[in-house]
Amino acid sequence: MSFMGLIGCGNLGSAMLERWLENGADPKLIKVVDNHQERIEQLKLKPYKLEELTNVDVLVVAVKPWNVEEVLSKVPLDPETIVVPMAAGVSLKKLAKMLPEKQPICRVMPNIGVKLGQGVLAMAFNKYVQSSHKLSVKEILEPLGKTIELKEKDFNAVTALAGSGPGFISLILESLMMGGIAGGLSSDISKELVMQTVSATMELLKSGIGFDELRFLVSSPAGTSVAGLEILEKNGVRGSIIESIKVASERAHQLGSAKEDDLD
Ligand SMILES: NC(=O)c1ccc[n+]([C@@H]2O[C@H](COP(=O)([O-])OP(=O)(O)OC[C@H]3O[C@@H](n4cnc5c(N)ncnc54)[C@H](OP(=O)(O)O)[C@@H]3O)[C@@H](O)[C@H]2O)c1
Repeated sequence: MSFMGLIGCGNLGSAMLERWLENGADPKLIKVVDNHQERIEQLKLKPYKLEELTNVDVLVVAVKPWNVEEVLSKVPLDPETIVVPMAAGVSLKKLAKMLPEKQPICRVMPNIGVKLGQGVLAMAFNKYVQSSHKLSVKEILEPLGKTIELKEKDFNAVTALAGSGPGFISLILESLMMGGIAGGLSSDISKELVMQTVSATMELLKSGIGFDELRFLVSSPAGTSVAGLEILEKNGVRGSIIESIKVASERAHQLGSAKEDDLD
């Protein structure tokens, strides 16, 4: 495994560290810095200072966006270290201004799933990244979930779909549960049925069945599914969901632009 530095052991940083350690990472290869040293010691690791982050192949930065510049300015960076910031809205262009010229950078947008090793991690690389850097980054990110290399302009759509998506899906699942209760089921039974039904639906989709194929599979002529689907279409559920992703994506763009201004 590559030598790694991690700045920030808060919500995201500690969740990632736990995954890496559970996944068998050698603690001796990880140097962690955080204002709250007890968080690092709890994970049986030795805390480091920013000035001590030397000899690392990959430097992951998991601090709030407004702290990124300050922490990076204190690290004695090796020109070969690839810097991996995960701060929402801090673009490659902005990061380049904070770092020495030609520093390899991989901006990453993770989602909440990293806590379970089932995250989505969108990656955008700058032009100084070599294939060896990409291998080191992927080695470190893969225990956290699915990595996808994208153009930075697509990060807003990723934030909307993968970042906000779990919230949207929760609302849909809660509505299914409420429907079960309205039909006379207890809330416990209704919730259990939602979970089991969603889990089976996911397995079927993963097996290769298409979305529309699955819809036709459960739709008998003049049956219950077509009756229900007709109501969903009539009430514009599909359009509302598409619009919610578009609006969330636009909002991510606005917030990113505002942060760019704040950081100037
Ligand atoms: N949480 C998520 O699920 C998630 C998802 C996607 C992206 N992100 C991004 O991940 C980043 C971190 O988010 P978070 O929720 O994990 O934040 P957080 O809980 O506040 O963790 C950041 C940690 O870094 C420490 N820190 C800040 N400046 C420092 C410095 N100069 N030296 C040493 N330690 C320092 C903070 O200490 P203090 O408390 O003393 O400031 C804190 O313990 C953000 O930029 C966010 O946009 C998070």
